[in-house]
Amino acid sequence: MIAIASLLTCQAMQAEELLSPSGDIKLDFRLAEGGAPVYSLEYKGEPVIAESHLGIRLNNSGLFDWFEIADVSKSEFDETWEPVWGEESEIRDRHNEMAVTLRQTSSDRRMVIRFRLFDDGLGFRYEFPEQGNLVYFVIADELTEFAMTGDHTAWWIPGDYDTQEYDYTESRLSEIRGLLEGAVSGNLSQTIFSSTGVQTALQMKTDDGIYINLHEAALVNYPAMHLELDDEKLVFKSHLTPDPNGDMAYMQTPCTTPWRTVIVSDDARDILASRITLNLNEPCKIDDTSWIRPYKYVGVWWEMITGKSSWSYTDDLRSVHIDTDDLTKVKPNGRHGATTENVRKYIDFAAENGFDGVLVEGWNIGWEDWFGNMKERVFDFVTPYPDFDLPGLRDYAASKGVKLIMHHETSSSIRNYERQLDTAYKFMRENGYDAVKSGYVGNIIPKGNNHYNQWMVNHYLYALEKAAGYHIMVNAHEAVRPTGLCRTWPNLIGNESARGNEYQGMGGSKTFHVTVLPFTRLIGGPMDYTPGIFEMDISKINPSNHTHANFTIANQLGIYVVMSSPLQMAADLPENYERFPDAFQFIKDVALDWSESRYLEAEPGKYVTVARKAKGLGQWFVGNVTGDSDHVSTVSFDFLDPGKVYVATVYADAPDANYLTNPQAYTIKEYRCTSKSSFTQKAVEGGGYAISFREAGPADKKLKMLK
Ligand code: NOJ
Ligand code: CA
Repeated sequence: MIAIASLLTCQAMQAEELLSPSGDIKLDFRLAEGGAPVYSLEYKGEPVIAESHLGIRLNNSGLFDWFEIADVSKSEFDETWEPVWGEESEIRDRHNEMAVTLRQTSSDRRMVIRFRLFDDGLGFRYEFPEQGNLVYFVIADELTEFAMTGDHTAWWIPGDYDTQEYDYTESRLSEIRGLLEGAVSGNLSQTIFSSTGVQTALQMKTDDGIYINLHEAALVNYPAMHLELDDEKLVFKSHLTPDPNGDMAYMQTPCTTPWRTVIVSDDARDILASRITLNLNEPCKIDDTSWIRPYKYVGVWWEMITGKSSWSYTDDLRSVHIDTDDLTKVKPNGRHGATTENVRKYIDFAAENGFDGVLVEGWNIGWEDWFGNMKERVFDFVTPYPDFDLPGLRDYAASKGVKLIMHHETSSSIRNYERQLDTAYKFMRENGYDAVKSGYVGNIIPKGNNHYNQWMVNHYLYALEKAAGYHIMVNAHEAVRPTGLCRTWPNLIGNESARGNEYQGMGGSKTFHVTVLPFTRLIGGPMDYTPGIFEMDISKINPSNHTHANFTIANQLGIYVVMSSPLQMAADLPENYERFPDAFQFIKDVALDWSESRYLEAEPGKYVTVARKAKGLGQWFVGNVTGDSDHVSTVSFDFLDPGKVYVATVYADAPDANYLTNPQAYTIKEYRCTSKSSFTQKAVEGGGYAISFREAGPADKKLKMLK
C-alpha cells in the first residue's frame, strides 16, 4: 500500500495543469521520458500546441533532461496599471501563474520554468536562480518547441539576423521551404539563414479558425528569437541569433530568458486587443514621465527616400578624395535636403498645420563617408553641414512653437556611437531637441556582430536608458523588433524594425502589408511607419524613380488609427498636402494617444478596423485598412456615448478608386449618427477609410442620420 501511494504522489508530481482565469486555456506540463520537460496548450478544449519540449543547451552541457520536479508553486494575479501612452489608459494584467522548479539530478542544478496563463494566451520563461553549480554559463541553443497541430496558414517573413524589412508572405507552413529556397536562388536575399526559418511575431490561422501568434516579451540581455520549422512534423523550435563566435548568450545567475508568448483566440480581434506582451514586461522604470509626450511630425525625409534630394552635402567621398574635415572646402552636390532654407519651409508648414515637430535627416557630418566600410565609420552627431544653420533653425523653430527632431544615423558603427552618445545627447538638450530618430543601416561594426544578437540587444537598451537620463525620447530604426519594452521605458516612443512605408517610395510593398503588421510587428510595440503619402506616382517627385506606391489616400488616413503610435509622421512633401487640403485635415485632427480602443473587424491580410477614443479629449476616431481584395465593412457605432448625436466625417475610397490606376480618388461625407447607428462602407484593395466624430450642433440637422 505504501509503495503504491508513493508511486501515485510521484506520478502526480510529474504532471501539472494550469487553467487561465476564464478556464478557456489549459496548460499541461510534465516530465517526459528521461526527465525532459514538455508542455502543451489547449484552447476551449482544442489542442493549439501539441506536446513540445523545453530546455536549453549550454556550450558544455545541457539543461533539457534528467530533471525532477523539486517544487511547483501556483498563484493568481489581477492588477490594473496605467501606461504612460498607448492604446488605452488602463491595462488589466490578470493571469494564473505556475512556477515549476526543476532539479537536474545529474548535475544538481536548478532551473525554474515560469508559466503565466492569461485568457488570451500564455507566456513562459526560463529562470536560473543563483546556485553553486551554475554561475557563469554560455547558451549554445535554446530548445523551446512550439508543436503545431496542423498545416496552418501563416503570415511570415524569413529568418534573418540583419533585417526585418521584408514583405510578408501568406502561405501554408508546409510551403515555407519552397518559397524560401525560391527566394534565395532568385537572389532576393543573401542573408536568409535557413530554408525554414521565420521571424516573430508570427501570425497563424488554423483551418478551424483559431488564430495563434508566437512572439517574445521583454527581450533584455539575450539574443532575439527566430523560429525554425521542422516541416515534416510541423514543429517550430526557437532559433536564437548568434554572436561572432557562434554562441547565443552569456549568462550569469541569477538571470532569466525573455518570455516566450503564445496568443490564441478564435476571434482575430482578440489578437490585436491582447496586452500579453506589455503585461510580461516590467513596470515603468522612469519616475518622472512628465516629459514624455506624443509627437506628430513632418520631416525633411521623403525627398531623400524618393531620391529627389540627398542626405549628404557633397558627393565627394571624404575617405577617398578629401584630406580635410573642413567640408566648406569640398564641392556641394546641389541636391542636399537639410539646407537652412528648406528646413525653414518645413518649420513653417509644421507651425501652420499644428504639428509638434520637424525631423531633419542629413544635417550632420558623416554622410559623405557612408561607404567607408574598410574602417570604423565615423558619423559625428554634433557638427552640422555648412549649409545647415543649426542655432538659427533652433531659434526659428522655437519662435514658431515647433521642435526639431534629431537624427542619429549610426551606420551601425556601434562603438563610434556609444563613444559619442553622452556628447550627442547633451548637444540635443542644449539645442532644445527632446526626441531622436536613430538608425542602424549597414553591417554592424565590430564585424561579425549582427543586428539582433545579445550584444546589440544590449546596445539598443543602453542607448534608450541613457536617453531617459537626458529626458530624451527615442525612435530607433533597424533596431531589434520590439517586445513590449516601451512599458518599462516609455521614452521608446517608436521603432521601425519592419518594412516601413518608405518601401512604397523605393519599389513598393504588397497591398495587404498594413493589414498584416498589426498581427506581427505591432504585437511588440508601436511602429514609426511614416504614413500619409498622397502622391503614389513617385516619378512626380523624382523623375528617375519609377516606383508606384500601392495604396489609396484613404488607406493612408486609416493607418493613423489602425496602427496606433504616440509618434506619427505626415510623411509626404508639403506641396502634396497642399493639393489635398480636405484629406490632409484628417491627419491634422487625428489623435496620437488613446483612453480606449475597440477592434471592430480584423482578418490578417484582408482588413482591420479600429475605433479609438482620444485620451483627454474624448473624441472618437475610426480607421480601416483593407488588404489584397475589396472589403465591405459593416460596423456598429455602439462605442459612442448613448443618447448623444454625433457627426461622423467619413474619408473613404471613392467608388472608382483603385490603388494602381486611381489611388487619389476619395470622398469626404458627413452623417449624423448615434450609438445605435450601423455603418457600411466599401474599401478597395490597398484602400481603407477614416472617420472623425464630433458632437452634432443645430446646423448639422440637414445631414443624413445613419440608422
Ligand atoms: C533607414 C531608415 O528607415 C530611414 O527612415 C532613414 O531615412 C535612412 N535609414 C537613413 O538613416
Ligand atoms: Ca529602415
